[in-house]
Amino acid sequence: PTALAGRHFLKELDFTQEEFRGLIELAAELKAAKKAGTEVQHLRGKNIALIFEKTSTRTRCAFEVAAADQGASTTYLDPSGSQIGHKESVKDTARVLGRMYDGIEYRGSSQQQVEELAAHAGVPVFNGLTDDWHPTQMLADVLTMTEHCAKNLGDDRFVLAYLGDARFNMGNSYLITGALLGMDVRIVAPEEYWPADEVIAQARKLAEDSGAAILLTEDLAEGVAGADFVATDVWVSMGEPKEVWDERIAALGPYAVTMDVLRATGNPDVKFLHCLPAFHDLGTKVGREIHETHGLDSLEVTDEVFESAHSIVFDEAENRLHTIKAVLVATLA
Ligand code: CP
Ligand code: NVA
Repeated sequence: PTALAGRHFLKELDFTQEEFRGLIELAAELKAAKKAGTEVQHLRGKNIALIFEKTSTRTRCAFEVAAADQGASTTYLDPSGSQIGHKESVKDTARVLGRMYDGIEYRGSSQQQVEELAAHAGVPVFNGLTDDWHPTQMLADVLTMTEHCAKNLGDDRFVLAYLGDARFNMGNSYLITGALLGMDVRIVAPEEYWPADEVIAQARKLAEDSGAAILLTEDLAEGVAGADFVATDVWVSMGEPKEVWDERIAALGPYAVTMDVLRATGNPDVKFLHCLPAFHDLGTKVGREIHETHGLDSLEVTDEVFESAHSIVFDEAENRLHTIKAVLVATLA
């Protein structure tokens, strides 16, 4: 068993820097083993429940393939396919699934629900995204950053600039993860789109120990100067109504990631991150709808940036598999 055996994975704040880095190292080892064809199965005979109250491509597939690679089986409960929240409380669901499964993944709106599931399940619970945090995404992003940039800690630390809506899961998670790991982390957005004061306070507290540099700014040029990584996320998250498009486009339009933004970093090797899905072309229903209603071809990132050599979004997507596998192995093996 590892040091994280039996632990939940609910939010970055629950982990020390050493524990978080340990998961990244394990993920890198598991990735190398899979590529070399030498992967050893640590989870044979285990069963994992996957509860999705919101839709998913990457997170679901990463959990399913990670479990299969490691010899475990999964049950997928889709947004309408279980009693949870409709006819049965989270607490009762937790006690039922905890009798049958060795671990439970949960994706939904409420962080409180995933915490409640964890409190009553008696087995490790993994947060596959809530409105507040996306911790498995952070493992993938940090692994991807380490693969693309030799910098790491102390004076020679990653410079990560996140542009866009920072009040939701991705913005919160980047700020806290950057603070935990000692990055130079910038939130670049209008002030009303910054994380809640409490999250900023938690980040500042972590930074005292880690040596992280934290900057929240409305000034795009200041925010991206010297960045190694520029990241963004959708401007309208799952569960939000279409009615917010107008205000988001007006407020966040200047923070869209364009080639000019990448040039403003002054770093010719700057890399672009996006957890995906992204609205960068008209290849989606939502993209076509935005084009019809607002005359725009993209929102948070231009197609030019998305398809450029700066973009490492598919390495990032692949790393969801290796990092989620690390969480499963560390907590369940
Ligand atoms: N990045 C991410 O969580 O993608 P999915 O919504 O497809 O799982
Ligand atoms: N902020 C986005 C992330 C999707 C992975 C959402 O919650 O929809």
